[in-house]
Amino acid sequence: MTPNQSRQYGVEIIGSGNGLPAKRLTNADLVKMMDTSEEWIVQRTGIEERRVTDWDNGEKTATLATKALRNAVDDAGIKPGDLDLIIVATMTPNMPTPSVSCLVAADLGCTGIAAIDFNAACSGFVFSISAVHELIKGGMFKTVGLIGADCLTQHIDYSTEGRTASILFGDGASAVILRRTDDLSKGLISHAMHADGGGSDILLIPADKNDHPDPANCLDREVGRVFMNGPAVFKFAVKKFPEVIQETLDLAGLDADQIDHFICHQANARILEAARKRFGLSEEKLRININKYGNTVAASCPLVYNELCTDGSIKPGQRIMFIAFGAGLTWGASLWQL
Ligand code: UT7
Repeated sequence: MTPNQSRQYGVEIIGSGNGLPAKRLTNADLVKMMDTSEEWIVQRTGIEERRVTDWDNGEKTATLATKALRNAVDDAGIKPGDLDLIIVATMTPNMPTPSVSCLVAADLGCTGIAAIDFNAACSGFVFSISAVHELIKGGMFKTVGLIGADCLTQHIDYSTEGRTASILFGDGASAVILRRTDDLSKGLISHAMHADGGGSDILLIPADKNDHPDPANCLDREVGRVFMNGPAVFKFAVKKFPEVIQETLDLAGLDADQIDHFICHQANARILEAARKRFGLSEEKLRININKYGNTVAASCPLVYNELCTDGSIKPGQRIMFIAFGAGLTWGASLWQL
């Protein structure tokens, strides 16, 4: 399709759907695998269980992403053939190439359409939804399937040595369908996208020992596994979360009480509670579902969005803000008029 420079379009979110593995990993399961306790995990993170893919038997990121997009397409009342672009936000592709989006397109029979993966770690979905808005608004694409999908449990050390990171992460995927509309009132109101590679050493997956913040002391078992300085990431998140919310509100000229839902990356319930307190938000306005899924990286925000749609909390005409932070370091927000 040729971009139409002469006019612009509104963008609406017309459907959503999840792709979650069936297998659950509870805190009680973790207690059997390492030195930890159910109380410690719940108190420090709010997490009760997470989902885990059966990676060795072929249940991978693309499997979950395909399931999520199929459910979102059904929810939107369209057909896979109506899509002209598939984007997957992920940092855990099945393999370096082909992209997850190409695999999803093939699974859904969407031969010949555009397909791209975006990697901004936990901020991937939030960065992508702002970018997709611009691609549709300018006329380049009409109907886009955007999926947040990650399987970080492949990179977790489930021994006591890895307990800081292993208790946090779960696998999952969740998708939205975005479509062009002639109603110019619908779409992005404001956004913020930030990155600081200078902070890359507090949250990473080293590909070899040279990537590790302390190469000389990096152990074999740490290669390919999540390295996380938990307290440093926590400090970064507690600072950046409210900052980026305020920045995005200021750009829009709106106050927090004019936003109906703050759809936040689920990294730790304590980080979310701090943001709730800072802006005086009710539980209805800032949903926490980390207890059910843990931190699902790029899938986390759309999983909350889907939950809010499914239980009827999200209504036409509302204003919603997606907010995330993650490895990179990256952080951002995307404010929408539905
Ligand atoms: O998408 C972004 C991803 N990451 C995040 O958002 C992570 C942000 N950080 C956090 O959520 C928290 O830092 C954690 C939940 C990871 C850790 O909580 P914390 O309160 O910062 O704990 P800590 O790392 O400061 O450790 C406190 C103590 C230590 O013991 P000592 O040295 O005080 O004796 C740890 O060894 O807790 C110990 N500990 C554990 N104990 C039981 C660390 N992990 C565990 C565990 N079970 N799983």
